[in-house]
Amino acid sequence: MRISIFGMGYVGVVSGACLLRDGHEILGVDPVAAKAEDLAKGHAPIQEPLIADLLAEGHKAGRLKASTSASKGVKDSDMIWICVGTPSKTDGGINLSSVETVIRQIGEALRTCESRPLIVLRSTVLPGTTEKSVIPLLEAESGLTVGRDIHVVFHPEFLREGTAVDDFDNPPKIVVGESCPGAADVLMKVYEKYEAPSFRLALAEAEMVKYCDNLFHAMKITFANEVATLARSLGADSRRVADVYCADKKLNISARYLRPGFAFGGSCLPKDLRAILRVASVKSLKLPMLQGMLSSNEIQISELIERVLKYRPAAVGMVGLAFKPGTDDMRESPYVKVAKALIGEGIKLRICDPLVDPARLIGSNKEQVQMALRHLEQLLVRSVDELSAADLIIVNHPAVDADCVHNWLKAGIRVLDTANIKGVDAGAEGYEGIYW
Ligand SMILES: NC(=O)c1ccc[n+]([C@@H]2O[C@H](COP(=O)([O-])OP(=O)(O)OC[C@H]3O[C@@H](n4cnc5c(N)ncnc54)[C@H](O)[C@@H]3O)[C@@H](O)[C@H]2O)c1
Repeated sequence: MRISIFGMGYVGVVSGACLLRDGHEILGVDPVAAKAEDLAKGHAPIQEPLIADLLAEGHKAGRLKASTSASKGVKDSDMIWICVGTPSKTDGGINLSSVETVIRQIGEALRTCESRPLIVLRSTVLPGTTEKSVIPLLEAESGLTVGRDIHVVFHPEFLREGTAVDDFDNPPKIVVGESCPGAADVLMKVYEKYEAPSFRLALAEAEMVKYCDNLFHAMKITFANEVATLARSLGADSRRVADVYCADKKLNISARYLRPGFAFGGSCLPKDLRAILRVASVKSLKLPMLQGMLSSNEIQISELIERVLKYRPAAVGMVGLAFKPGTDDMRESPYVKVAKALIGEGIKLRICDPLVDPARLIGSNKEQVQMALRHLEQLLVRSVDELSAADLIIVNHPAVDADCVHNWLKAGIRVLDTANIKGVDAGAEGYEGIYW
C-alpha cells in the first residue's frame, strides 16, 4: 500500500519504519527540511532501537521517500497517517495547531487531485475533535463530503519510546474510531497479520480510549509511589509489598472494580482508607491521590442525590440497599446515604432488597443502618412490583431484568440505573444510566 505519513517525529518514524518492513511504500512528510533530507537518504531522525536498520532496508528497497511538500503526500497515496504533535498550551489545553495545519494542507491538495486516500489521524486528540473539528475543516478545505467522497478514522498509537518497534509489532490492542461503518476497512488490511484484539468504535470512543490508557498508567504510577511512601514510613519494604499486590491477578491486576458505576462502600474500603489517611496526617505524609479518593466517592453520592432531586419526585423506589448485591451488609452502604438524604427531603421512599431482613440484622450492621434509617421496616417492600407507585426508581443491584425496567418506563416511571442492567434500551424515554 502507498502510505504517506505527515509528521516524521517519534510516532511517524516508528510507524513508517515498521510499515516499510511490512512491504508498504512510505512517503514521510515533514516541514523540517533536515528531517526530510535525512529520511530521503534512509537515515533515522530519532534514536530508537531497530529503527535505523528498518529505514535503511526500506530505502535500499526503494520504498522510502520523504518530502516537505504536503501535496506530494496527498497525490498517489492510498492512506495518509497524521502523526503530528499535539502538545500542551500554556494553560494546559491541547494545542491542535499542527493538526489543523495538516488538515488544511491535505484539504487544499485534495481539491486539485483525483486521489481519495483514507485519512488516519494518529495524533492524540480530545474526544469529539475528529468529528467536530477535523472533519468539518477537511470538508471546508477540500469541498468533499466525509462518508461519501472520502473517509476519516481516528487510530490511536500505543507505542512506548525505547521499545517502540516491539510495541508496534505486538500492540496491546488495535483501536480505530470510524466516521461511518466500514471507513477503516483499508486501514485494517495493514494489520491482517498482526495478532492483537481489535476494536472498531465510534470516533469519540476511540479518542477517549487513548486518554484512558494514559490516565490509567499515570494513576498506576502515582498509586505505587503513594503506597510506597506509606510503606517506607511504616517500616514495610515497598518493593515486596508491590510484588504481592501485583501478583493478585484476580482482584488487583484485573478488570475488577474498573467498570463505571456507583460509589464504593461497605465495612472495609472507607474505614481502611480513613485509617491510612489518619496515619498520613499524623506523619505529615503527602498523598494527594489517596486523599482525593474519599472526597471523589462522596461526590458520586451527592451527585446521584442531586440528579434524583432535580425531578422533584414525590415517591422514589430503590432496588438494593446493601453496599453490593449478594449480601445484607449495609455498613457504609452508599445507597443508605442516598436513602437517608431522600427521606430528609420529604420524599416517600420504598426499598426492595431481597437479602435485607430487619429481623435478622445483628451487630454493627444493625446499629449503623438503624442510625441512618430509623424506620427501616416501614421502608422495605418484599417485591419489586411494590415499587410501581414511585415516580422514579433507582436500580442499585441487578435484581431486576430489562423487562421489569421496560415495564416501569412504559408506566411512565423514570429509571436511574447504577447497576447497568443488561438488555435495557438505553435510548428509552425516561431511562438514565448513571454514566451511559
Ligand atoms: N511519543 C510517543 O511515545 C507517543 C505515543 C503515542 C501517541 N503519541 C501522540 O502522537 C502524536 C505525535 O507524537 P510524537 O511524539 O511523534 O511528536 P513529535 O513532536 O516527535 O513529532 C511531530 C512531528 O510533526 C511534524 N510536523 C509539524 N507540523 C507538521 C505539518 N504541518 N506537516 C507535517 N509534519 C508536521 C514536526 O516537525 C515533527 O517532526 C502526539 O499527538 C502524541 O501525543 C506519542
